[in-house]
Amino acid sequence: MADLILTGASRGIGHALALALAERGDRLVLVARDRARLDALVTAVQQKGGKAVAVPGDLSSLAEARALGQRLADVVSPGATLVHNAGLWPSKRVLTPEGLETAFVVNHLAPLVMQRPLLDAQRLRRIMVVSAGLIIKGHFDAARTPTGEDFSSIRTYCNTKLCFAVAMRELAAAWPGIDVVVLHPGVVRTDLGARTGPIGWLLSLVKRSWESPEVCAARLARILARERWSPAGEARWLLEEKEEPWPAVAEDEATRRAVRETTARLLSAA
Ligand SMILES: NC(=O)c1ccc[n+]([C@@H]2O[C@H](COP(=O)([O-])OP(=O)(O)OC[C@H]3O[C@@H](n4cnc5c(N)ncnc54)[C@H](OP(=O)(O)O)[C@@H]3O)[C@@H](O)[C@H]2O)c1
Repeated sequence: MADLILTGASRGIGHALALALAERGDRLVLVARDRARLDALVTAVQQKGGKAVAVPGDLSSLAEARALGQRLADVVSPGATLVHNAGLWPSKRVLTPEGLETAFVVNHLAPLVMQRPLLDAQRLRRIMVVSAGLIIKGHFDAARTPTGEDFSSIRTYCNTKLCFAVAMRELAAAWPGIDVVVLHPGVVRTDLGARTGPIGWLLSLVKRSWESPEVCAARLARILARERWSPAGEARWLLEEKEEPWPAVAEDEATRRAVRETTARLLSAA
């Protein structure tokens, strides 16, 4: 039995995916901030005959992400799959204790910090990144995106998801022994990007026509069941289940260099 680490397991797509995987045989290592919801999910997985353990952690702080990664490295065995699914679509600019924009941390820097101890301890065989088709709208401004000076209630989400996708392509090249895939999961009815007031009400109306987390989870479970996702040293891009060429914005050399250099600088200072 292998381990499968799933971040963002407390709600939405991650919660549905944990339930979809309960009978597949892997031990699920469930990560999110909400311990009560994770504990309830562990029980639900066990009731379906599966195995699961909760490892709560917060990705809005680099120090906590590092500690979380260490806890995960202690808990999982070599050969594990990591599903980076946790995500945040922020409505306003909020800075972390490190002075960085919160979505830039939760969606990009913290998952990199969290996975470091797992890589160092050689725990990972595969990594799936639940990204977003909206990376095509991303624009990384090295001077302003990390601190959210270019904050936009739409664009920031796209920018931060683009950064992480680009960083995980680099990861795939640096760790050719790990199979890496980056994907758009679908357009799914979850709390992601929830707003208050009339806009929130309108959004919840629009979301009624979106697919359920269970439909998306079944899709991700099928992808997880594939033998192989990408050639060694590469990360392939999937739109739902279909492999597509990487969007031009993720191929752009200047963007890739800026993300690489800025990420390295911020993580070395952290
Ligand atoms: N829904 C869509 O249509 C859609 C489309 C494209 C891509 N995606 C991507 O799919 C992934 C899952 O999204 P979703 O729609 O399921 O969203 P969701 O329902 O809002 O769930 C987000 C998950 O991320 C976790 N999370 C948020 N902030 C965190 C933090 N600081 N530390 C640790 N965990 C945190 C949450 O857990 P806690 O609050 O308990 O910490 C929750 O389990 C995201 O990466 C999103 O970008 C979604």
